[in-house]
Amino acid sequence: MKGVDLSVQLGPVTFANPIFTASGTWGYGLDFVDLVDPAALGAVVTKTLTAVPRRGNPQPRVRELRHGLLNSIGLENVGLQAFLREKLPALRERGVRTILSLAARESGEFATMVAELTRHEGWQGVELNLSCPNVAEGGLDFGRDPFRIREIVDSVRQVLPADRALLVKLTPNVTSIADLAVAAQDAGAHAISCINTVVGLEVDLETRRPVFPRAFAGYSGPAILPIALAKVWEVARAVDLPIVGIGGISSVEDVLRFLVVGAGAVQVGTALFARPTLAHDLVKELEESLITRGCASPMQMRCEELGRS
Ligand code: SIN
Repeated sequence: MKGVDLSVQLGPVTFANPIFTASGTWGYGLDFVDLVDPAALGAVVTKTLTAVPRRGNPQPRVRELRHGLLNSIGLENVGLQAFLREKLPALRERGVRTILSLAARESGEFATMVAELTRHEGWQGVELNLSCPNVAEGGLDFGRDPFRIREIVDSVRQVLPADRALLVKLTPNVTSIADLAVAAQDAGAHAISCINTVVGLEVDLETRRPVFPRAFAGYSGPAILPIALAKVWEVARAVDLPIVGIGGISSVEDVLRFLVVGAGAVQVGTALFARPTLAHDLVKELEESLITRGCASPMQMRCEELGRS
């Protein structure tokens, strides 16, 4: 077999390969330019941006555990305006395919932010973060309610340029993630990003209190891979949209697992903290693995039981 076509289509946008970085794990896509070319990835998903800068939650914010990482960052970010001024031009100049992760305090703010974005070039899509477990306002409140999801996605679609992709990032911390995905699909999302972190808690035995000031935190890393695969499978059976699989990827076999359960692309996250070049290595390794398995495209790994949607 010759080469493999790694390209993936999310709504109106074609990405050259299906390996993206996950929000919050690779900064704004420019931190590692001395090591690797961010334009070689399918896309970079930025740290979640909010309309105004956020300082994030009080310390401690991160705890490394045996099989994963707990975080309670609280959406610390430079704010949309500073990103557009200081980061986006550099990403554009380098030809990086950029998806902006966005969060908001109230439903209408998402569309306002996207309307602001339309005055700028150099981005290919937005990922609505409707699933952050670490903030008091927005976050999981939005993402657990199909009605709110419909309302937000619909309002964003009304201002989103026709040539940009709309991804919706869902939480696994619900009874039925499929219901949320259906709501996003009905309102016009182009793809489902699945999953955000799993709610967890760490205990300090000396103080006999939770470690994190907000008690709960988001769990990511290898431990959540089987949970993420189950959620992607559930969503793949419920909607016809492309799914971007996220959760615990640390090897090309993990990428293949996501493709089997219905993902069309993946985001590499927590593993990047230890190995910032991993996503780049996975692009090459995925191509080789697909050739070895006689697949002409990632889609051919998909489990037959799911059909070819
Ligand atoms: C955070 O900044 O708290 C993590 C982002 C998220 O889980 O969506």
